[in-house]
Amino acid sequence: MKIAIYPGSYDPITNGHLDIIERSSKLFDKIIVAVARNAEKGSALFSESERITMINKSITHLKNIEVDLFEGLLVNYAAEKNANAIIRGLRALSDFEFEFKMALMNRSLKEEISTVFMMPHEKYTHISSSLVKEVASLGGDVSAYVPQHVEDALKESFSGK
Ligand code: COA
Repeated sequence: MKIAIYPGSYDPITNGHLDIIERSSKLFDKIIVAVARNAEKGSALFSESERITMINKSITHLKNIEVDLFEGLLVNYAAEKNANAIIRGLRALSDFEFEFKMALMNRSLKEEISTVFMMPHEKYTHISSSLVKEVASLGGDVSAYVPQHVEDALKESFSGK
């Protein structure tokens, strides 16, 4: 069984993430979408359980996806889950340097786990969760970039602010 981990903050999940999940679900037997429990990026807009719920609601059309929360080293989590691949999306050249270093560090930590890079559809190459949050917070239309229920959650979250 070929299992891959697709890690990230998912604050919130976007159509770009979903595009990668759909593509990778055809290449692996199981994809584990792993929500990082790190505080590195400061405070998240959505709680861990909200982020997980939003991912679960977005993947109901896919059969081989599991959603989980992880903390600690990604390679240790991957090994625990019997995964031998980590999926990362590459949107633009600017992603490359950070991703390159992370992939090499992960490989030096656990040689048997490989990082697989995938490109989302070009209509999503300029988006990120932060940009979507910024646009939504200023009342902009993000309907092309997130599922409807995420758009609703963003609206609700910013309505009182
Ligand atoms: N479509 C749209 N946006 C995308 C995307 C796609 N296909 N792929 C990535 N992004 C965006 C994300 O929305 C995120 O945007 P933001 O910065 O505005 O929030 C940004 O790209 C990168 O985030 P993400 O892919 O979620 O990664 P991350 O940097 O938040 O997470 C971890 C990195 C969690 C995978 C990494 O820190 C990790 O492995 N941590 C565990 C500890 C560890 O093992 N450390 C050693 C690593 S060598």
